[in-house]
Amino acid sequence: MKKNILIVGGSSGLGLELAKYYVSDGHTVCVTGRRKPALNGVQFESLDITDDSSAVSDSIDSLLTRFTRINTLIYVAGFRQRGTIDEIDDAAIATMINVGLQTPALLIQRLKNTLPTPLKVMLVTSSSQYTPRENEPVYCAVKAGLGMLGAAIVRDKAIGKVLVAAPSGINTNFWAGSNEDTSTMLDAKWVSDAIVELSSGAFKYKYAKILRNPARIEIQETLDNDLNPINSM
Ligand SMILES: NC(=O)c1ccc[n+]([C@@H]2O[C@H](COP(=O)([O-])OP(=O)(O)OC[C@H]3O[C@@H](n4cnc5c(N)ncnc54)[C@H](OP(=O)(O)O)[C@@H]3O)[C@@H](O)[C@H]2O)c1
Repeated sequence: MKKNILIVGGSSGLGLELAKYYVSDGHTVCVTGRRKPALNGVQFESLDITDDSSAVSDSIDSLLTRFTRINTLIYVAGFRQRGTIDEIDDAAIATMINVGLQTPALLIQRLKNTLPTPLKVMLVTSSSQYTPRENEPVYCAVKAGLGMLGAAIVRDKAIGKVLVAAPSGINTNFWAGSNEDTSTMLDAKWVSDAIVELSSGAFKYKYAKILRNPARIEIQETLDNDLNPINSM
């Protein structure tokens, strides 16, 4: 069945690779971001997630009038934020929380029950979901929170499949302007292919780490519709 797929943070990097795949597979895809990507065949909607929570809510409502009947939400938006907790100012903390948690929560809240078929949700977190880092306190917190959001909503029978994918370093614009060596990082298309593969098949919930050196996938948990574990080994 061909689907309407909303990819938030689909204008670059991993999200753009996912958009390319789903367009080529015949789905109707809308990507959001602040910069329009050079990709034919997708609807682009500008969505600038700032520290202004109420403006973000309004932008989401407006977005959902322009792309409707959404079967699948793929939440990929995120940005690099370095600094100890005292080095990050109020606006930076609020922006990270809005990008990493407020926007996905509001989207799922608004999209649940809009179609007769349950909403499928794919959430991209990070190794920072499970690795505490002194220099990424709020980023770690929102990625851990996003993972828990996925694990919690899957208990809701009106929600469809939920995939939580936690990748390690990927060679994308995420690292632009940093001194980080990206040469050994994962390739965005490889990670996108891994996420597509992880999302297929019968399950209600899946949580997987996508690791590097060597590039590999480690499925942490898979649950069936009754929330019983499925052995994925
Ligand atoms: N790269 C890595 O090493 C790595 C590792 C683990 C997890 N991740 C996670 O993977 C996801 C994808 O990252 P990526 O590597 O593909 O980076 P990317 O190329 O920089 O893509 C990030 C996406 O998020 C959007 N975005 C960021 N901040 C935004 C804001 N304030 N408002 C609206 N949209 C915003 C960007 O839109 P615009 O560019 O149009 O503004 C872009 O579409 C992120 O959630 C990131 O945390 C990345």
